[in-house]
Amino acid sequence: MAARIQNFVCQSCGAAYVRWSGRCDACGEWNTLVAEGAAVPRRATKGRLFVIEPLKGEAHEAPRAASGIAEFDRVTGGGLVRGSALLLGGDPGIGKSTLLLEVAAAFAGARHRAVYISGEEAIAQVRLRADRLGLTDAAVEIAAETGVEDIIATLSQGSTPRLLVIDSIQTMWTQSVDAAPGTVTQVRGSAAELIRFAKRTGAAAILVGHVTKDGQIAGPRVVEHMVDAVLSFEGDGSHQFRILRAIKNRFGPTDEIGVFEMTGAGLRQVANPSELFLSERELGSPGTAVFAGIEGTRPLLVEIQALVAPTTLGTPRRAVVGWDQNRLAMVLAVLEAHCGVRLSGHDVYLNVAGGLRIQEPAADVAAAAALVSSLAHAPLPSDAVYFGEVSLSGAVRPVAQTAIRLKEAQKLGFTRAIVPDAARAEAPDGVALSTLGTLANLVADIARDGTPALRRVGGQDRILG
Ligand code: TYD
Ligand code: MG
Repeated sequence: MAARIQNFVCQSCGAAYVRWSGRCDACGEWNTLVAEGAAVPRRATKGRLFVIEPLKGEAHEAPRAASGIAEFDRVTGGGLVRGSALLLGGDPGIGKSTLLLEVAAAFAGARHRAVYISGEEAIAQVRLRADRLGLTDAAVEIAAETGVEDIIATLSQGSTPRLLVIDSIQTMWTQSVDAAPGTVTQVRGSAAELIRFAKRTGAAAILVGHVTKDGQIAGPRVVEHMVDAVLSFEGDGSHQFRILRAIKNRFGPTDEIGVFEMTGAGLRQVANPSELFLSERELGSPGTAVFAGIEGTRPLLVEIQALVAPTTLGTPRRAVVGWDQNRLAMVLAVLEAHCGVRLSGHDVYLNVAGGLRIQEPAADVAAAAALVSSLAHAPLPSDAVYFGEVSLSGAVRPVAQTAIRLKEAQKLGFTRAIVPDAARAEAPDGVALSTLGTLANLVADIARDGTPALRRVGGQDRILG
């Protein structure tokens, strides 16, 4: 028998080596080389002939099945597509298993066959959760299994499931690859088998993926490339609400979010997230501004909180939760350079209330307003919302979807909006607009309407600081 040829393949970039080493020379990743059997050249066989089609032709709308859980369906783009595979990532304990059991129950309720395979929990534990969710009577089929071949063999008998949940892909194990359970090669091999099963049968597969400390779905992204959609379930431990976000979606939008609240009896859908995120506002305290944001197609009002406090440190602290650190640094620099606001002697903390993470540059103006308000001890008007992007020159730039933002503000009882110049044309009735050409206008406004202590220095060149 010929000795088996070994090849060491980087699990991150796919480079192959004859010898193992700790670091992949091609991509620089550490500890990613795994022994894989080398591809043995086989005698070429005659190829099978297939039909080549013109581009023009009937394009069938991907057949979807909605779960009926609106927040979930929105993020998937209107339901699960037949034969597709979806990866759901999230921190341990965030509620992935809970969400998927509810989704499976919703499918079962619509008379679709839904199978939930748990590789992590015993059947009794899954039943206990179902009990807590009030889903004991749901027609979901469950099993505690980890062998991919066994799962596929079992599911190939009887009718094809419409939904197959694999919780989680890291616990699965396939005989088709020669690697220890839990390795990247196994995760990739198992995912490939399950995805092939989904494509072949038309079942929609949802794979649960654990997230590593740095936020990546473990099995260095290999699975992300293989699936049709990647969703992440986010939230922070100290808050009840959870955000379902699409990171990649071949069949739908990637900027939509679904909002849920974790309750004692499962996840509750939050139809109007703005109400939730604004529910704990402290009215009248300096350093808070309401940002009228957009997540996907939905407006979302959130409170941005800032604390600017004198520091004794040589290098003042700049800490930010829920927003981009670089964006904060830029806003601070613009305030210093163009608005006469001196912050170098102050620590700066910025927080998006409720544990939400926002990515829009449109939050610049709201963040700046909160910062200046805190520095000046000047509370901002409680019936005002803020949005607008700030450029490095200190100009306030227009942002997209102004009308939707303003309408949402109006709906929640806000009567004023501090916005870029260009938003003037889109004001709904009942919302008074203050338009800003530059960030310096905003600083001057806050100084003018601020507390008496601030007015005393208002006439000077340097308004604040
Ligand atoms: P789980 O779905 O097991 O998380 P994951 O699969 O992402 O690891 O949810 C775990 C947490 O959710 C756990 O801390 C308990 C809490 N929980 C509730 O608050 N209410 C509920 O109804 C359920 C089922 C769980
Ligand atoms: Mg789980």
